[in-house]
Amino acid sequence: MGLLLTGASIVFPKEKAIKKWDLLIEDGHITAMGPALTRSGHTVRVVEGYILPGLIDVHVHLREPGQIHKETIETGTRAAAAGGFTQICAMPNTTPVLDTPELIQEVVQKANTYGYATVHPIAAISRGEQGEALTDFAALKQAGAVALSDDGRGVQSAKLMFEALLAAKSIGLPVAVHAEDNSLAKGGHLHAGKVAEELGIRGIPSVAETSMIARDLWLAEEAKAHLHLCHVSPAAAVSAIRMGKAHGLPITAEVTPHHLLLTEESVKTFGANAKVNPPLRSDDDRLACVQGLLDGTLDLVATDHAPHTDEEKAKGIEQAPFGLVGLETSFPLLFTAFVKSGILTLPELVYKMSTRPAEVFHLSGGEIFVGGVADLTVIDPETVRQVNPAAFYSKGRNTPFAGRELSGWPVLTIHHGQVVYER
Ligand code: DOR
Ligand code: ZN
Repeated sequence: MGLLLTGASIVFPKEKAIKKWDLLIEDGHITAMGPALTRSGHTVRVVEGYILPGLIDVHVHLREPGQIHKETIETGTRAAAAGGFTQICAMPNTTPVLDTPELIQEVVQKANTYGYATVHPIAAISRGEQGEALTDFAALKQAGAVALSDDGRGVQSAKLMFEALLAAKSIGLPVAVHAEDNSLAKGGHLHAGKVAEELGIRGIPSVAETSMIARDLWLAEEAKAHLHLCHVSPAAAVSAIRMGKAHGLPITAEVTPHHLLLTEESVKTFGANAKVNPPLRSDDDRLACVQGLLDGTLDLVATDHAPHTDEEKAKGIEQAPFGLVGLETSFPLLFTAFVKSGILTLPELVYKMSTRPAEVFHLSGGEIFVGGVADLTVIDPETVRQVNPAAFYSKGRNTPFAGRELSGWPVLTIHHGQVVYER
């Protein structure tokens, strides 16, 4: 006996197609699709809207182990399910840092016991993210790591980054880069632009990010290794990546919803909830990110979901930690901003939030086909609702999008054939 979904339209991002078909799930897999499937013997469920391949977020901070007052694997994966994500990659800047096979295995196992979403840990490049000694990439891969990153901080040494790229290349994993040169960025809180100046707050210049990206592009070429650039924010970085791709460099890049939709001005309204690293920059930077996403220079959208407590965020711009939560708002934000307005088609947005993330991080998923695992998200394209942080599954309420009126909300999320979220 299976679960038969009927009434919705199925989105096929690779074919850029949408078909009003039934879909049958049996034993965790999609076993049939078509205009009118036989219903006898199955539980029939009428759904409205669009069925998407489960969304995939390659940049999430789950905070467990060590900072479970901010988020746990359980609350983070529930938030993922509520946001339509069936697979997420977890960044290693936990306490302790995910730099041993045992810690990587623990994250995978815990996530499996809850079952809300699949978690693929990203292991640290350097021990303790200290930027000094490489971790054991082969052992970390064996334990389940899908990439390497010292996210949260830049790898300051070009030599160490080059060695990391060579080692990652030999085992076929991407290196996901948080590009930030401390000698240029250190002590900054906001984008070094007009708002930081106005508020008299120390800024982080774009070149702190762009210069490290430029360095790493050529290190990746030399190493012939897959370099993935996290949360790209300045216009000059988008240009550098565009040139790098034209040159044939083995690079991919991501952009966050907040860098696509907000600017430095947001801190005036949302205070520390708009403090994030890399910072929200100028409108020209934002527009360059949008252009980069449209033309494929920036391959995919990732949230950089970074939960912090209200107490920490209440400390003011200079004392509050960097980061904002994204799992439960990103799809409706981008559906409303780009699909409703006709800038992207629905299959194009889903490609950038599911298909392409799977390709770049070598994950299965990102498409809907008979025989595939039933990781599916149903979204409602019509109902308009406000972002309400109090209702988040995440422990983090730190969002600059509170109160926004959005459509495209996930209404049903199915992970491995099981309903894990239902509105
Ligand atoms: O804003 C951010 N928050 N950027 C990062 O790179 C790290 C993250 C965090 O862990 O809070
Ligand atoms: Zn980062």
